[in-house]
Amino acid sequence: MGPATAEATYATPVSAEIDAFDLPVEGALPPELCGDYIRNGPNPRPGAKPGHLFMGDGMLHGIRIENGRARAYRNRWVRTREFTEHAPYVRMNGTLDLTVGVANTNIIGHGNRLLALVESSFPTEVTRELATTGVYDFAGALKGPFSAHPHRCPRTGELHGFGMQMRPGALTYYRIDAGGTLLESRNIPVRSATMMHDFALTERYAIFMDLPVVFDMLLGMRGKFPYRWNDRYGARLGVVDRNDASAAVRWFEIEPCYVFHVMNAVEHGEQIVLDVVRYKELWRKGNDSFSPTTLHRFTIDLQTGSVSEATLDDRSIEFPRCDERLTGSAYRYGYAVAVDAVGKGSGEVRKYDLARGSSSAHPFGPGQRPGEAVFVPAAAGEDAGWLMCYVYDAAVDRSSFVVLDASDIAAPPVAIVPLPVRVPLGFHGNWIADDATAN
Ligand SMILES: [Fe+2]
Repeated sequence: MGPATAEATYATPVSAEIDAFDLPVEGALPPELCGDYIRNGPNPRPGAKPGHLFMGDGMLHGIRIENGRARAYRNRWVRTREFTEHAPYVRMNGTLDLTVGVANTNIIGHGNRLLALVESSFPTEVTRELATTGVYDFAGALKGPFSAHPHRCPRTGELHGFGMQMRPGALTYYRIDAGGTLLESRNIPVRSATMMHDFALTERYAIFMDLPVVFDMLLGMRGKFPYRWNDRYGARLGVVDRNDASAAVRWFEIEPCYVFHVMNAVEHGEQIVLDVVRYKELWRKGNDSFSPTTLHRFTIDLQTGSVSEATLDDRSIEFPRCDERLTGSAYRYGYAVAVDAVGKGSGEVRKYDLARGSSSAHPFGPGQRPGEAVFVPAAAGEDAGWLMCYVYDAAVDRSSFVVLDASDIAAPPVAIVPLPVRVPLGFHGNWIADDATAN
C-alpha cells in the first residue's frame, strides 16, 4: 500500500461496531494495570454527508485490561441526539441546542462518571462498556458548552474546565469538586468567540489562550466548520486567580499563533511557564489543513506584564501529555506524537526531557501511525509509568494497542495487543483505572 493510500485509509471511518474478547498479547501486560483505555475520535456514520474532520460523529474505542490479560476490545458510536435523532444543533430561531453535539473529542472519568466531550455542547455520559447514558449537565448546573480539555488538579482532586459560547462570544470558567458537583461558573470577559480548545492550570492560576482563529457565523451557515484565521484579532494569554472569583483577568499580548494543546504549566514565583504545541498560523485559507508545529514555551512575568517566548523543539508534534500527577507543578518529562518522523506515513512517540533540553523516541515501523500516547503511573516518581496508545499499521489495515515503558521509551514495547480492526485517526483517550478514586 502506497503512502498516500495508507494515509487515506488511516483517516477512513470504520463502518461497524464490534466486540472481540480475550485478545492475544505479545509481550506481557503489566499485571497491575486493571482498567479500560478508551479513545474518542470522529467517525462519521455510513452515508453521512462528508464534512470537516471535527464534525464527525464520535466513536469510542475501548480495551479492557485485567490481571495481565486483554479481556475485550469494543468500539461504539456515542448515541448523541445528533446521532440517534439527527437533532439540529442550531434551532430554527438561531439559538444553539447544547444537548446536541457529536461528543467526538475526548473521554474523561470524574466523579464516578465517564464523560464523552466535544467543546461545542454539554458532555455525554457513557459506561465502561461504551453504552451511552445520555446528556450530562452536572445536575442542571451547567448552562453553557463544556470544553473537551478540562484538567484535574492533583492537589485538590477538583476538575477545572471552561466553555466558549459561540453566540454571543462568552467564556465561562468552571470548577467541579472531586465528587463531581459543579461548584463555580465564572464569567471571563472576551472580545469575541475564538476557537479555544485547551487551557492550563497551575497551583494558583488558570490560563486561557485567546488566539486569532475566530468564529465566523457565515461559514457555519454554509455548513462549514465555523472558524477562520483573522489577522486583525491579535493574540493574548489570560491569567485568572483560581481562588478569587472577584479578581479581574489579566491579559498578556503574544505573537499571533494558534495552540490546540498544552503540555503543562507551572509557576516559578511571579512567573508562569506554559509549554504548548504551537502553530505559526492556522486556517488562513480554508480549514482542512494543518501546518507543522513546534514545542513552544511562553514565560509570563506577572510583575512586568511581559511574555517571553522560546522554541523548545522545532520538529512537528501533536497530542502533548505529561504525568498528570504533576499537572500545574514543576515537571521534567513530556510526551507527544510525531508524524512522518521516520518516513512518509509513519510516526513515533517522543519523550521530552525538559530539564536537559533533549528528547528520545519510540519510532514505529514504516506505515505505522501511533495516536495520542497517554501516561499511566506505575509507582511514585515522575517517569515511573507506561505510555498507552493505539497504533495503526497500513500494511495490514489494522491497529494494535501498544504499551511502552515511559522510563525507557526506545525499548521494545512492553506489550502489543493486535486488534482485529482498524482504529482510525482520532483524538484523545484516557486510562480509566478500576481503582482510581477520582474516576
Ligand atoms: Fe484536543
